[in-house]
Amino acid sequence: MASHTTGENGQLEALQAALEQLDQGITVFDRELRLVGWNQRFFELLEFPQRLAQTGTHFSEFMRHNAERGEYGDGDVDALVSERVEIARSFRPHYLERVRPNGAVIAVKGEPLPGGGFVTTYTDITKDRRYILETDGLTKEFKGFVAVRNVNLKVRKGTIHAMIGPNGAGKTTVFNLLTRFLPVSSGSIRFKGKDITQTGADAIARMGIVRSFQISSVFPHLSVRENVRVALQRKYGRDSQFWRPARELDGLNDEAEKLLFEVGLEDYAELMAVELPYGRKRALEIATTLALDPEVMLLDEPTQGMGHEDIGRITDLIRKVAQNRTILMVEHNLSVVANLSQWITVLQRGEILAEGTYGEVSRNPDVIEAYMGSAHA
Ligand SMILES: Nc1ncnc2c1ncn2[C@@H]1O[C@H](COP(=O)(O)OP(=O)(O)OP(=O)(O)O)[C@@H](O)[C@H]1O
Ligand SMILES: [Mg+2]
Repeated sequence: MASHTTGENGQLEALQAALEQLDQGITVFDRELRLVGWNQRFFELLEFPQRLAQTGTHFSEFMRHNAERGEYGDGDVDALVSERVEIARSFRPHYLERVRPNGAVIAVKGEPLPGGGFVTTYTDITKDRRYILETDGLTKEFKGFVAVRNVNLKVRKGTIHAMIGPNGAGKTTVFNLLTRFLPVSSGSIRFKGKDITQTGADAIARMGIVRSFQISSVFPHLSVRENVRVALQRKYGRDSQFWRPARELDGLNDEAEKLLFEVGLEDYAELMAVELPYGRKRALEIATTLALDPEVMLLDEPTQGMGHEDIGRITDLIRKVAQNRTILMVEHNLSVVANLSQWITVLQRGEILAEGTYGEVSRNPDVIEAYMGSAHA
C-alpha cells in the first residue's frame, strides 16, 4: 500500500484502516496514492500532485481541476463537475473509464467501504485498453454472399498484429473495409476511439492508416529515389509541389535519403523501380508507405512470392518499422507470423475463429482443423 500518503484533518490512519478492508480486486496507485478529500464518509484517492493534496483543496475543486484537464470527457465543465459531485455524494457504486488528453486510460471505480464510507480508486489501465483500431460487428456482403461476418477486431497500439486464415477467409476484404476501399455493409470502425466507418479512403490515409502491397504505390519507370520523393510529396501539399521554395524540396531530399537508408535501398537509389529485384521492390513499397508517416500500417502478404533471403530481410525491416507504429498484417507464412506478431486473429469463412498469441492459436484445435481442412481442400 502507499507509503507517501498525505491527508487532511489527520484522517490518514482512518483511510489506511479502511483501505485494509477493501476487497483485493481493487487496485490503487501505489506510489502515487494521495488522500485528497475527506468529508466524514468519503475518501477520494487520486493520482494527484502532492502540492494540491497539501493545500487541502476541496473535493469539488479537485473535480473542477480534473474536468478542466478533460478527464471527464468533453462538455460543460460546471455540468461535468456537478455530475461527478453527485455521483460522489450519492455513494453510488460506479465504474467508468476515462481517456485522458495524453491518451492514458484510467479506470475509475467507486465502492462503498465495508465499515461505511466510500472510496474511489483510479487505476491506469492504459496498457490493457489501448486499442488504436477497432471494429464492431464488421460485416461485408457481396450480393448475398457474406465475405466478412460480425468481426470485432481489436488492434492494440504499438503491436504487430497478424491476421491469418485459409484462402477466401475474408482477410483482404477486412483490409479493404478498414481502408475504406470498400463500403461496409454493417458494423463500425474506430480509429483512436473515433468513428471512421464513413470516412473516405483519402482521409483515412491522411489520418494515419496506410496500406501497403497488393495495391502498389510504386511507379515502375521512375527511379527508386523519385518514387520515394513522389510519395513524400503526396504527404505534403499533394500534387501542388512545383511552386514550393527550393529549400523545402531540399528537405524532401533529405527525408528521401533517410527513408532509402531505413529500408536498405541507399545503394539502389538511381535504379528504375522496375529493375529492382523482387524483394527490394517490396522494400521500396514499404518506403513509399512510410513516406506518409502512418500510425497504423496495413501489410497484405508482405513476403508473398519471396525467397528465403528476401523473407528474412523483409521480416527484419517490418520489425524495425514497427518500433514506433502499429502494424496489422495478413501473412500466410506462419514462421513469419510466429516471428513477428504479438497477437494473431484467425479468420475463417468471414468470421473470427480464434485469437491470441502464436502459441495459443497454434495449439487451438479449431485452428488446426481449419488449416488441415484447407490443406485437404
Ligand atoms: N468484390 C467481390 N465481389 C464478390 N465476392 C468477393 C469480392 N471480394 C471478395 N469476395 C469474396 O469474399 C471472400 C473473401 O475474400 P478475400 O479476398 O477477403 O479472402 P482472403 O482471406 O484475403 O483470401 P486469400 O488468402 O486468398 O488472399 C472470397 O470468397 C471472395 O471470393
Ligand atoms: Mg487476400
